[in-house]
Amino acid sequence: MSLRTPLCDLLGIDVPIICAPFGPWEQVELAAAVSNAGGLGSLGTAVRGLDDLRKQWRRMRELTDRPFAINHTRRPFDPEAFAATLEERPAVISFHIGDPLDLVTRAHDAGIRWIQQVGDIDQARTAVERGVDVIVAQGGEAGGNAGDVATLVLVPQIVDIAGQIPVVAAGGIANGRGLAAALALGAQGVVLGTRFLASTEMRIAQEWKDAIVQADARDAVKIDFANAVMPPFSEGAYTTMTPRVLRNAFVEQWMGNAEGAAAEAERLRGEILAAVRSDRLHEYLPFTGQSVALIHEVLPAAEIMTRTVAEAEEALKRASRCFSAEQH
Ligand SMILES: Cc1cc2nc3c(=O)[nH]c(=O)nc-3n(C[C@H](O)[C@H](O)[C@H](O)COP(=O)(O)O)c2cc1C
Repeated sequence: MSLRTPLCDLLGIDVPIICAPFGPWEQVELAAAVSNAGGLGSLGTAVRGLDDLRKQWRRMRELTDRPFAINHTRRPFDPEAFAATLEERPAVISFHIGDPLDLVTRAHDAGIRWIQQVGDIDQARTAVERGVDVIVAQGGEAGGNAGDVATLVLVPQIVDIAGQIPVVAAGGIANGRGLAAALALGAQGVVLGTRFLASTEMRIAQEWKDAIVQADARDAVKIDFANAVMPPFSEGAYTTMTPRVLRNAFVEQWMGNAEGAAAEAERLRGEILAAVRSDRLHEYLPFTGQSVALIHEVLPAAEIMTRTVAEAEEALKRASRCFSAEQH
């Protein structure tokens, strides 16, 4: 794989592809496979105790000696898990759903790079002020919590204000044409979330992977009852971010009835927490993006990366041929 950008040197990776963190879902094997194939693997931290997190990090180090990211968010923020992450010293901390405030300085003091994911131009301006190392411009197409602005609009908007800070595109990207488009918009790489959910290594139920392969973009919907069922926001959170999930019976039941869900919030939160612990969260909130429409088979992570890079190179060559044809 030969496609390189300055982002690769900054993060110590070979290919400008980052695998998204997946909140509470177990993803050590996937993250290690992505890092071993030259990308940046990530590990989520949501809804996990410290012992569990430390076990994951140990397993990750057994499986790879390449750089990887540990992710935190403000939905909610866990100060203990963050302090443990600083001690663990991953190459990168990635952050989402909120202003990172002084956390960036604390990471830098520990020799850790900071990737800040944002969903609009104001959040991007804040990221620049905080001194982050990389900004992920996450379009509203994305699976999981995100804003509403589309990737095609957000990426160039943020590239224009980011100065020397590399920008990475996320949301709706699942193949090499998406990577080529992101580079054309001025990004230096991509985050793939939904595409890597449907990978051999990802430890989610086969039925969720099958649903991703079969689904259309219109099946991945923003839910309006999220505040009743999701963990609370912490101080400094970007509360306008809402989750995009794949339609299922639970989503159909509560969609359009946020008030009803709020009235039963305690029971629903309890059920969802139990589902996290028994690996059935996909029966409630299968976080998934519109890029399902571009995913037709479950593949090993390394194969996803090889194909994405080869297809991007082909797409960029094809585009440049249009330009030279015009010249002659
Ligand atoms: C199942 C799932 C869980 C996610 N959890 C997190 C998370 O914990 N932290 C985070 O920063 N982003 C999270 N995201 C968002 C991703 O970082 C990324 O922006 C998104 O997946 C990109 O869009 P795509 O799914 O179209 O590739 C999640 C996405 C998915 C699909």
